[in-house]
Order: sequence, then structure tokens, then C-alpha cells
Amino acid sequence: MGNVYRNYIGGLWVESASGQTFESLNPANCDEVIGIFQRSGEADVVAAVDAAHAAFRAWSRTPAPARADLILRVGLLLEQYKDELGRLETREMGKVLDEGRGDVQEGIDMAMYIAGEGRRLFGETVPSELRSKFAMMVRQPLGVVGLITPWNFPIAIPTWKLFPALISGNTVVFKPAEDTPACATRLVEIFEEAGLPPGVLNLVTGYGPEAGAPIVSHETVRMVSFTGSSVVGREIAARGGQSLKKVMLELGGKNAMIVLPDANLDLALEGALWGAFGTTGQRCTATSRIILHRDIAGEFTERLVARTKKLRVGSGLDEGVDVGPLINRQQLETVERYTEIGQQEGASLLLGGHRLTGEEYDRGNFYQPTIFADVNYRMRIAQEEIFGPTVAIMPVSSYDEAVTVANSTEYGLSSAIYTQDVTLAFQAMQDLEAGITYINAPTIGAEIQLPFGGTKSTGNGHREAGTSAIKEFTEPKTIYVDYSGKLQRAQLDVEQHGA
Ligand code: UN1
Repeated sequence: MGNVYRNYIGGLWVESASGQTFESLNPANCDEVIGIFQRSGEADVVAAVDAAHAAFRAWSRTPAPARADLILRVGLLLEQYKDELGRLETREMGKVLDEGRGDVQEGIDMAMYIAGEGRRLFGETVPSELRSKFAMMVRQPLGVVGLITPWNFPIAIPTWKLFPALISGNTVVFKPAEDTPACATRLVEIFEEAGLPPGVLNLVTGYGPEAGAPIVSHETVRMVSFTGSSVVGREIAARGGQSLKKVMLELGGKNAMIVLPDANLDLALEGALWGAFGTTGQRCTATSRIILHRDIAGEFTERLVARTKKLRVGSGLDEGVDVGPLINRQQLETVERYTEIGQQEGASLLLGGHRLTGEEYDRGNFYQPTIFADVNYRMRIAQEEIFGPTVAIMPVSSYDEAVTVANSTEYGLSSAIYTQDVTLAFQAMQDLEAGITYINAPTIGAEIQLPFGGTKSTGNGHREAGTSAIKEFTEPKTIYVDYSGKLQRAQLDVEQHGA
């Protein structure tokens, strides 16, 4: 029996209105309950939005450098608790301990970057066409924003959204994934410890249809930022459109790595292993397709299979484990179903394709890293996001064919090419339809100081992190100051010089 955790609304830890709860389980050992959390519904969301709304005026008028103090302090506490939080992530989400710590580090990076924004939040000043008139744009907060976050980066992704939202002067309702509420609760506790004013950040835990949907529908919420599946993203966009909200979506990926014959194959091999099986393939940036030039396809595939066989699957807490469990039973079933689909479609299953059983595995959601070869771009395993340790190898005969295959999905998040040819490398930067392109590095591993996001069905045109973050969480306010003391008509009273 785990501890009972509460929602955080208006600076108080409170139970859900219905009194209902749900459990968060350790995916490596589902007998271990990480904690019991509030199963929130509309009444809880309404209370959280009210609290955020009430706090908005004071928070938005707090000088940005003072708001930055809070973010900086949260970052320093994340650093202090990095190890503890990394372990909690591994217990609740399953990723190996090193990656758990890396996820916290990404949050620390974001804190350091965003805290500096407290003294920037750049607007624009431009000349006016009229004398004694000043023209500028400043950035203003939107109001109450709703943040709905996934389980695969349970600290990092919330910080990508929370820090820029808060530094910009918004107040927040935060609904984390139902699979990782303990990480989210700990993060909010850290905010509280750092001196968070009541109502500025409110936490409601629970399921999407019950606790997420009312955030999206609420008229007072001016923006929703969501990371998750494309299916849910489309629903949020449609529902959010009803109240003309700003809807920022970070959705699926089907990221390809291209390996050309001149590539450093040792390097490409390391990249493929990390890109495909790191985080058990549960990254939206995961390398799920490896596009190999036929000249090296045989050798590369053989080596990849041999190396993948050696990957150690197990609890992320155990030393020497490379690949942790899948997040839950449902995800395990999804991955299993895609193995069947791949086989039915005629792809060659070279490795894996089954659950792991035995004493170490039976209580968790463990799946053997899986490699399909002879995959063609029309197959569902080449088109649909699996979000697991399954990779599709696709042979091609030229650079042009490689790019065509890489671009032949509805998604456009990340992409990679391994080549020593500088001309083709630059060509690929232009040709690959994706928000992110890596040269001689795998499709995962984005850093927070640059925009993160994708093209096509990966999103709806927004970007997280980097300089985009502030743009997304603010609205421009254009201001004209006419100190001429007379009516000056733009476009009409303009001085003409020249012929
Ligand atoms: C995600 O998979 O949702 O670029 C985010 C990366 C990480 C973030 C991934 N820094 O792989």
C-alpha cells in the first residue's frame, strides 16, 4: 500500500471532490505501488482554474526578474535532489537510472536557461513613420494556461512548459500523465519549497478524459500545451478551437536514421542502438526506422542484430541494465500487436518480437528489443508510431531514395543521416521533412537551448524550448506612444522626401 498524495490547488494539498483515487505502479514490478493519487474530475479542474485565475493579477505584475528567482531556486533544488528524483523516475517510469538523472538534468538546464529570461523577455522597438511617436512591442502573459504532459520525460517535459509559462507571468493548471503522478507531485513540492505563491501553479492528477478534457474546455484557460499522441492531440485541437484557445501540440514521430555507404559504420551502429533502444524506444524522437544503403545494409544489419542481442533488459535500478520495461500493460500489448502486424505484412523478424518471461521479468512489462528487416515504406510498422523497442530496417539504393523513404510518413519530428560527404549532409539538412535533423548523431538528444518540435502531423506549428518557448507562452502587445501633442494620422500625415 503506497502513500496517498493530493492535488495542489491554491497553495493547499487537497483531495479530489469525488474522493476517488488511482494507483501509480512500478513498470518493472507492478506489485510495487509508487503511490495513490487523486482521480480528479471537472470540479477539481474548475477549482484549480479559479485558483490560477485569482493568482494571475499579482503574479503577472510581479517583476519578471523576481519571477525568475523562483525558477532559479527550483533549478537549484532539482540539482540538489537530482539523484533522489532520478531514482523516483526509474521506479515510476522505468527508464534506466542514468537516463532518469539525465531527465532531471534536462529540467535543470531548462531552469538555468529560463531564469535568464527574467532579465530578457525581449520585445521590439521600431521607428515610427511620424515624429514624436514611439513604437514598440512588449510580451504579455496569456492568463491561465493548461499544461498536459506525458509520462516518458516526467520531469523534463513538465519543466519545458512550466518554466516558460511562469516566467512569462502566466498562472498554471498542470495535469501530468496518469502513469507518472509521483514525479509531477515531487516537482510541485519542489516549487513549494522554492517559495511558490499560492495559486500560481496548481496540480490536478488523473486521467485525460476526466481531468484533461475539462481543462481544454474551460473558457478561462487561454492556452493548452500538450505533449502526447496524435489521436489525443487532434481531439484537443478541435475542443480547444471551440473556445478559440491557443493550442500547442507536440505529438508523434516516426523518426528515420539514414546510413550512407561512406558513413563511419561504427559510429552509426552506436547511434542506432542508442536511438532505437534508449528509453526502451519510448521517446517521440526515438529512431524507429533505419534506412540503409544496400551497399552496407547486410553488414550493418548483422552487426546491429549482434549488438542488440547483447543489450541487457531489466529493472532500470539494476547496474548494467541497458533497456528498462515498457510503461504499462497496455503499451506492452501495443508493441506486441505491432510485432504481429509486421509479420503479417511480410517484414522479416530478425530479433526479439516477444515478451520476456522468468523470475526477473514476470511482474514487469518487459519486451525483447525487436528488429524487423526488409521493411517497405507502405507497411504499418514503417508508418505508425509504436513507442517501444521495435526498429524497422529499410534498404534503399541511393541518397534520393533514402530521403524519399525518410519523408514518406505523416510525421516530421526528428531525422538523422550518417555520411562523411559534406555535400550530402547539407543537402539532407534541407531535404529531410522534420523539425530536427542530426548529422552523424542519432535522432534523440535534443538540447533545451534550441527549438524542439516537428512538422506535418507531429504538431500544429509550435515549438518548445529555446527562444520559441517565450514566444509561445506570451502574446505580443503593440504600443504606440504619441507625444507630439496633436493628432497625427498614420499613412496620411507622413512626410515625403525625394521626388
Ligand atoms: C520526447 O521524446 O518526448 O531529444 C522528448 C530527446 C530528448 C527529449 C525527448 N531531449 O530525445
